[in-house]
Amino acid sequence: MVPTIAVLNGPNLNLLGSREPALYGTATLADVRDLCRRTAAEVGYDVDFRQTNHEGELVDFVHEVRETASGLVVNAAAYTHTSIAVRDALAAVAAPVVEVHLTNVHARDEFRRHSYVAGVATAVIAGCGPAGYAFAIRHLAALDAQTAGAPRMPEVDGARQHA
Ligand code: DQA
Repeated sequence: MVPTIAVLNGPNLNLLGSREPALYGTATLADVRDLCRRTAAEVGYDVDFRQTNHEGELVDFVHEVRETASGLVVNAAAYTHTSIAVRDALAAVAAPVVEVHLTNVHARDEFRRHSYVAGVATAVIAGCGPAGYAFAIRHLAALDAQTAGAPRMPEVDGARQHA
């Protein structure tokens, strides 16, 4: 079975391409989805790509993928800066989470500098545009490969080395 990386998108990202193009660019969410699929395929993963405008649905998405995904790419959009519920849902995920933003949130409004997601994320990528999603997928695949290759019982592996 091909492992899956979940890519979860929050509110207003369905408008990508026409939404404030000077800030967010002209790529649509479908373009971002295709980039994610291509990138994931290159490193041997499927993508479960979703978007919602509703906070509770974003929480439901996290619950739905927490057992199935090897890693999560999350652009919670405005909920990044407001949602303890999304943070709590992500805190209950064992798989690594990479927070992604198309724009450099630190160079924008003051209120975008705080992220509820960052504290439960393994990595944060901001300001790279859609490429940030691809970087996140590659990072999650690399982490997964490390975990798969890591000795589960170091003492046993150590004993083997000396045998
Ligand atoms: C965003 C940044 C957020 O501050 C904003 O609310 C978004 C998009 C980004 O991808 O740059 O909707 O997450």
